[in-house]
Amino acid sequence: MRITRLAAVLACALPLIVASAPAALAAPAAVGLGSVIPAPIEVHPHGSAFKITKTTVIEAPRSAFDVADRLAEALRQTTGYRLRVVSHAPGHAKVISLRTGARLGPEAYRLSVRRDGISLQARDNAGLFAGVQTLRQLVPLRGPFTVAGGDIADKPRFGYRGAMLDIARHFHTPAEIKRYIDEISQFKVNYLHLHLSDDQGWRIQIDSWPRLTTVGGAAGTGVDGVGGGFLTKADYRDLVRYAASRYVTIVPEIDMPGHVNAAQVAYPELTCDGVAPRPRTDIDVGYSSLCIGKEITYRFVEDVIRELAALTPGPYLHIGGDEAHATTEADYIAFQQRVLPLVAKYGKKAYGWNEITQAPAAHNAVAQYWGLSRENASLAAAVAQGTKVIMSPANLAYVDQKYDPSTRLGLSWAGFIEVQKAYDWDPGTHVAGVPESAVLGLEAPLWSETLRSIDDIEFMAFPRIAALAELGWSPSRDWESFRTRLGAYGPRWTARGVDFYPSPQIDWAR
Ligand code: ACM
Repeated sequence: MRITRLAAVLACALPLIVASAPAALAAPAAVGLGSVIPAPIEVHPHGSAFKITKTTVIEAPRSAFDVADRLAEALRQTTGYRLRVVSHAPGHAKVISLRTGARLGPEAYRLSVRRDGISLQARDNAGLFAGVQTLRQLVPLRGPFTVAGGDIADKPRFGYRGAMLDIARHFHTPAEIKRYIDEISQFKVNYLHLHLSDDQGWRIQIDSWPRLTTVGGAAGTGVDGVGGGFLTKADYRDLVRYAASRYVTIVPEIDMPGHVNAAQVAYPELTCDGVAPRPRTDIDVGYSSLCIGKEITYRFVEDVIRELAALTPGPYLHIGGDEAHATTEADYIAFQQRVLPLVAKYGKKAYGWNEITQAPAAHNAVAQYWGLSRENASLAAAVAQGTKVIMSPANLAYVDQKYDPSTRLGLSWAGFIEVQKAYDWDPGTHVAGVPESAVLGLEAPLWSETLRSIDDIEFMAFPRIAALAELGWSPSRDWESFRTRLGAYGPRWTARGVDFYPSPQIDWAR
């Protein structure tokens, strides 16, 4: 960026020099070794840089070819070179070497850049994948493709670094979800929570209750009646596989006992009076409830949990639990006392919005904190009993909230969230009585009431996901440093056609 500015200054002051040597002035420097998002723990720039050319070879054990292929694909997009992936490079080759088996923790990696090669080491492929994301950011967008010399040693602060996408208010297609996975995984986000059902729509095939999708996912469902669609089980399995190959675990959510209007339109027997409610395409919340006293409610819930658990290789199954304003407190607790153990029955860890902590059975569940306050007595009491927490305070981490009053998309009930606000908080100390040892990590929810296209999603998610990903990965934060690195990152989004929000808080490189 500095060189670009210098070139611009010289272009005004000394047009003859620029005219005679534009290429030299325009040549980008190697990206600084420390300019990565999320910030690596240790960065030691030294020695000579490595230049990636068309004869560079990627060497990896066969068991890591999947990660090596991802690196080759990313480098092809940036450099145009189709680098070979081999298990044994010839002696004379300049090599980017990927190695597993290093004595490092989960997702940790070491990256060394020397004149004659690049070495990336990790315990397993998840660590290699994290290191590959770092290396991608160190390769300049334009040639020469020189990677600065030195060493990086890195590991995550939290094991759970999540994003959430609401595909209930507006359905988003598998292709859009895949693109989102591609983008978030570049910031080492490793969980994608899919909000699969809500009052306005039901978006996942359940064989034992087929009308959930034939009615609840039909055309005309969704906010304003324009968000129809659903994932078949084949779509969902394909998404799980796609995400896994980017080291992202999918967390499915079925929201209950509230947020169930679409299910009750499809199956009126799930209401207490047996009468179908009208389909809803508005954005109100808190008016629907499963009928807590009816046995069919628990047959329904168990069928859904069983089928969803069978589709889910990951550890978590999210059962919602938020905004159940049409359920009495006693009924809510009775419901959770029956439902939380059902998740364990099908081999999954129960996960829900923080309201689930009102139920004693939540002591071995995971609670997702979405409150606006830094105090929550029920959550703190549950944590004392063993509940683990994912931090998603709505006023800081909800990336569907507007950046400022002029933002054309999103809602603002939790406030405006500019990039610095999303960045300047600490998930390890945010809520009283929730120490870092109880925090598994954080998540950035993206609700879709106002979002239809992938461009809409990207505009709200980026750059804030980058800020939140750094809070999840890096142990310390430094706004000025982040701001500079983010400004330098902008052209990477532009090059990939990502429709990010050009926040005025950032000096964006061009
Ligand atoms: C929520 O925002 N209702 C979890």
